[in-house]
Amino acid sequence: MSFPTVRLRRLRATPTLRAMVRETTLSPAQFIYPLFVVHGRDVREEIASMPGVYHHSVDRLAREIDEVSALDIPAVILFGIPASKDPIGQENFAEDGIVQQAIRAIKAANPDMLVITDVCLCEYTDHGHCGIVRGGEILNDETLDILGQVAVSHARVGADVVAPSGMMDGMVSAIRAALDGAGYAGISILSYAIKYASAFYGPFREAVHSTPSFGDRRTHQMDSANVREALREAQLDVDEGADMLMVKPALAYLDVIRRVRDRFDLPLAAYNVSGEYSMIKAAAAHGWLDERSAVIETLIAIRRAGADLILTYHAKDAARWLQTLE
Ligand code: PBG
Repeated sequence: MSFPTVRLRRLRATPTLRAMVRETTLSPAQFIYPLFVVHGRDVREEIASMPGVYHHSVDRLAREIDEVSALDIPAVILFGIPASKDPIGQENFAEDGIVQQAIRAIKAANPDMLVITDVCLCEYTDHGHCGIVRGGEILNDETLDILGQVAVSHARVGADVVAPSGMMDGMVSAIRAALDGAGYAGISILSYAIKYASAFYGPFREAVHSTPSFGDRRTHQMDSANVREALREAQLDVDEGADMLMVKPALAYLDVIRRVRDRFDLPLAAYNVSGEYSMIKAAAAHGWLDERSAVIETLIAIRRAGADLILTYHAKDAARWLQTLE
């Protein structure tokens, strides 16, 4: 059967028909909204390279969480900017560290808001690297113990999910063992299993002041040219006990999302990262593209590639737009 009997335009004729045959769904229930938390009082400061994204002080979080939850977004992921940085990043696992304070405040404001934490060293270390540094080298095994302490410190104050993002080998099993040993067997691990060394993290590093003081992250983050290696990364994390997997960034890696989706049955998240956000915001600010449709199209693409969940700075806007979408 073919044209003229078959006419694919028939099913595109009206908004109702188009909606009924739409293959991919997009809903705020799939969004995870990143929040940047800083010390101080009454701070709500826009991040220059990420219009619409703010640094929040802990006392301003409850209001933000109300807004997120009113939009039916179920989860946030937290990034903290510490008061001071040092070689191992003490505040990262301090009882009253910025993220620990934020978790308590969010859970007090809304116990149902799912709180995910980023578990990595780079925001807290004075050298900006994701591991302990000795002689210019980023040490792997020596870093694992700290990652475990960070995860436990987050679980202790109420985090629901910890998300290791440092691409250290063995990070998932180290964190699982630390959590279980401290009585937090019920806390899940969303592993940034497949994280590429990417130029698209630029605005984020400005936001959290984590640009490495020397070198780059290529000895631990993946080479963008590789996809078989991505499947090995995912397999290792599955074997180590990850509950969910993540691919990051999203847009230049849609094929990787698809490959991981096809091979693994774990829930899969994709991180629509800062540079991807800033590109759309910058073009929209110039009037070069329509922000609303570009964002929805982008998020649909990430879902179509196979992601169940999307970490995105567009979450609040997209949730609003989806309420009125045809
Ligand atoms: C590392 C971390 C990074 C991002 C999330 N967690 C940055 C990096 O690896 O340099 C990037 C997120 C984004 O660009 O939106 N803690």
